Amino acid sequence: MGTRLGTLIYSFILASWVILASGTQHYQESKELPLNIEEAHLETKKSKRATDFATDEQTGLFLPADSPEDSDVGPAGGDASDLPTCLLCVCLTGSVYCEEVDPDMTSVPALPKETAYLYARYNKIKKLSQKDFGDIVTLKRIDLTGNLISEIEDGAFSKLTLLEELTLAENQLVRLPMLPTKLTSFSANHNRLKTKGVKATAFKKLTKLRSLFLAHNELEAVPMIPESVRTLHIQNNNISTVNVDTFCKSNDTYYIRPNLNEIRMDGNPVILAQYPNSFTCLQSLPIGRYQ
Ligand SMILES: *[C@@H]1O[C@H](CO)[C@@H](O)[C@H](O)[C@H]1NC(C)=O
Ligand SMILES: *[C@@H]1O[C@H](CO)[C@@H](O)[C@H](O)[C@H]1NC(C)=O
Repeated sequence: MGTRLGTLIYSFILASWVILASGTQHYQESKELPLNIEEAHLETKKSKRATDFATDEQTGLFLPADSPEDSDVGPAGGDASDLPTCLLCVCLTGSVYCEEVDPDMTSVPALPKETAYLYARYNKIKKLSQKDFGDIVTLKRIDLTGNLISEIEDGAFSKLTLLEELTLAENQLVRLPMLPTKLTSFSANHNRLKTKGVKATAFKKLTKLRSLFLAHNELEAVPMIPESVRTLHIQNNNISTVNVDTFCKSNDTYYIRPNLNEIRMDGNPVILAQYPNSFTCLQSLPIGRYQ
């Protein structure tokens, strides 16, 4: 009896599972059938935007910069250049996504108040000026990868005391501006940074910095690396020497550097084996040329 009951239950479970599984498969197939990737992408983008606006209006959590509360900006509804930001870009509570915007975006768009995350990758932004982020002190992350930025005014980031992640990779920078001190991650990979444009002390005050990416530039020296840094990528530059004080302390042979466990120095002219005393405080040797 017990065995037959067991078999019955087992068959029932198996049957349900088969029905369920075939249903899932059917669902997946029907979902994939009518659209090619291009169309699917467009569909998602459209519906995403529609939802964004609905959300904005329903909750009022993320008011566009030209909302009625701000009508003191000017006559007849204020600055018209504010609205297109959320038409050209996707604005989601606290986030603005402006990737590969068409028509070309050549400067930072007017950002809605309370913006915390700005993704403006692969556009044609040429310059960052002091007013671009001036009022948006809520910014925590800015990603401007793949633009044409060659100039950044020195005060451009000076009010961004909450900014934690800044990515300026794949631009045309030869020098860096003052950086906000709360940064935990900074990337300027694939620029044209030169040693005279990056002060030795450029990162000294960034005591929360964990990741520093300066690969594929024209640097001839390693700048001062704060003790908080865990990952340093400075490969593919023009560094030809490393001295004891670059990573360690020449007056303290017992010093052990606490965090730095990934240093990439490959693709530089320096032959690391010639500077044995420069790495004694490290827990792992830099990646690079040793002969
Ligand atoms: C690399 O540095 C050397 C000096 O160490 C300099 O002569 C040379 O022009 C630099 N190359 C580039 C591409 O900047
Ligand atoms: C090593 O030199 C630094 C300044 O360069 C100084 O602050 C520190 O106290 C010195 N440490 C020792 C052990 O002498």
